[in-house]
Amino acid sequence: MTPPGAARALERCEELAALTSMVGGIERVHLSPEHAAANALAADWMREAGLAPWQDQAGNVCGRLEGASPGLPALVLGSHLDTVPDAGRYDGMLGVLLAIEVAERVRRSGTSLPFALEIVGFADEEGTRFGTALLGSHAFAGTWAADWQALADPKGVSLGEAARGFGLDPATIAEAARAPADLVGYLEAHIEQGPHLEDAGRALAVVSSIAGARRLALTVTGRAGHAGGTPYDRRRDALVGAAEIIVEIERIAVQTGTIGTVGGVRAFPGGVNVVPGRARFSLDLRAETDTARDDAWDRIDSFARKVCERRGLQWAVEEFYRADAVACDPALRTAVEAGIRATGDEDPVVLWSRAGHDGMAVAAVTGVAMLFLRCGNGGVSHSPDEIVDEADVATALDAFEGAVHAVAARYEAHE
Ligand code: GLV
Ligand code: MN
Ligand code: MN
Repeated sequence: MTPPGAARALERCEELAALTSMVGGIERVHLSPEHAAANALAADWMREAGLAPWQDQAGNVCGRLEGASPGLPALVLGSHLDTVPDAGRYDGMLGVLLAIEVAERVRRSGTSLPFALEIVGFADEEGTRFGTALLGSHAFAGTWAADWQALADPKGVSLGEAARGFGLDPATIAEAARAPADLVGYLEAHIEQGPHLEDAGRALAVVSSIAGARRLALTVTGRAGHAGGTPYDRRRDALVGAAEIIVEIERIAVQTGTIGTVGGVRAFPGGVNVVPGRARFSLDLRAETDTARDDAWDRIDSFARKVCERRGLQWAVEEFYRADAVACDPALRTAVEAGIRATGDEDPVVLWSRAGHDGMAVAAVTGVAMLFLRCGNGGVSHSPDEIVDEADVATALDAFEGAVHAVAARYEAHE
């Protein structure tokens, strides 16, 4: 058996990678058979580490290690076990596995913490199957919206039906919600998913805040026509209008320091010899603050309206996801910095997270903070090319453990 620590966490990432619905790649979505298998494996690993595991009513896999006495509020360590399509091996999974290693170190050292440690492998951070992200962490935070049970996957299976098929009772989802009084805070370790640490030659960072995001489905409608017979001055080409808007989205994002991504475009009817009468495209818009994100959207929207007016097109906007930016809790952030300092890094790098994380939802019920570790290959993520260095994982594990002890020292001083 691989000895506890970074090597074992990485070996377990490989084991989880084998739980996939995609031939030749990794895809593990909410409430799928692969999700059930990943939860079972994570529960086994938690049990081995000395935790008592269970699966909550949202499909999150949890484990608990009691503190100095039974029933104390818990410091929660976690991340997610679901993936995007054709995913990497570390986004989410590594954070859950490092949490298990930290809990095992605490148990083996015989340290009695002034709080319980709980680990959560969240069920759905990415939103791959049902479009809405953070379903597991919203249930945990008690911010589940009743109409989410009706969300449907691309095959038309509703979330409620999928939950029943998974062995859950959708009527009991509220029982997954945690009370603030039962929680000390939430810490998550995650790969950076960007190039900043690699470029700076640094292994770890403390996160200052998690970006706010809005996701929109945008439609430009014109008039379909014959590709040969429709003169340019009579065309109402929806795709060319959309293209102008898409290029401007990039310009506005670069200019405002926000991030706008058009990840999907479709033209209708889609014939080679037909002027497109309708174009639909998605927009994922993120920024460090909600104001920056919303101001960028106002500029995009007003540019699009002008383009459509000039070209005789219609513009329609449907927002299907919004998550506000979350500032990390100052005391927990200081604890993460202390953990990084304990590894010999006297001046921890501070980054805001451009990616979304379960902490955005968990922040509704308790303070959150995050530790980032460098990923290689230019920081690529949401890709099979995601890589991490074992030495960085070992340093991150030490820092994560150090952060837990720093939270404990502060908690003891204030209780
Ligand atoms: C989740 O990984 C996101 O930021 O989209
Ligand atoms: Mn992700
Ligand atoms: Mn993630």
